Amino acid sequence: MSQRAPLFASRGASERLRVGVLCSGSGSNLQALLDASQAPGCPFVVVVVVVNVEGAFAAERARAAGVPVSLVPHKGLARDVHEDAVAAALAGHDVDVVVLAGYMRVLTAGFVRRYPKKIINVHPALLPSFPGTHGARQALLHGCRVTGCTVHLVDDGVDTGPILLQAAVPILVDDDEAALQRRIQVEEHKLLPAAVRAYAEGRVVVVDGRVVVVDG
Ligand code: GRF
Repeated sequence: MSQRAPLFASRGASERLRVGVLCSGSGSNLQALLDASQAPGCPFVVVVVVVNVEGAFAAERARAAGVPVSLVPHKGLARDVHEDAVAAALAGHDVDVVVLAGYMRVLTAGFVRRYPKKIINVHPALLPSFPGTHGARQALLHGCRVTGCTVHLVDDGVDTGPILLQAAVPILVDDDEAALQRRIQVEEHKLLPAAVRAYAEGRVVVVDGRVVVVDG
């Protein structure tokens, strides 16, 4: 039988997976994580939120939940200098995993190497279709009948890392980008906490070199 190596060894009910979240915008996916983390028995906790855009509503959501916020603006900084500052903001909080929840910056290979298989992203398309920005718009432009969202581990490509979970969203005849994006987000808000929960429970495992999520 193949060996299953969990990416994170659950430390039991008393010690939860410590999650650092990077956001650039509204933070509705952050909110989904915060809400899920408050449910009794949730195996993860959001310990810090790093925001790179001043005024991003994600920061308000974090403060309202009592989670520390670091504002680390990228404007005017070289990419590696900015990433060093982001890593420093995370470092003080002993994070086990980093979640990109609407973080609109491509991370360098150098940053990804600091957190091997420990960065999770949510993307508004069924990868490997439509990586990059405007996933919903791309699906509409291509006349897709079905699109969706993907939660995946981050590697040093753009939206290319191992897929953890996906959910399908049908495209309706009179959909515009905003309507489709809203329906995709409804699914994202379930999928992202589910993926982080699986990670926390040691159910994200490597089998024969492939990352898979096993049932709880
Ligand atoms: C989400 O749709 C996610 O797929 C993409 O950015 C959007 C962020 O939305 N990566 P929010 O800030 O979580 O509301």
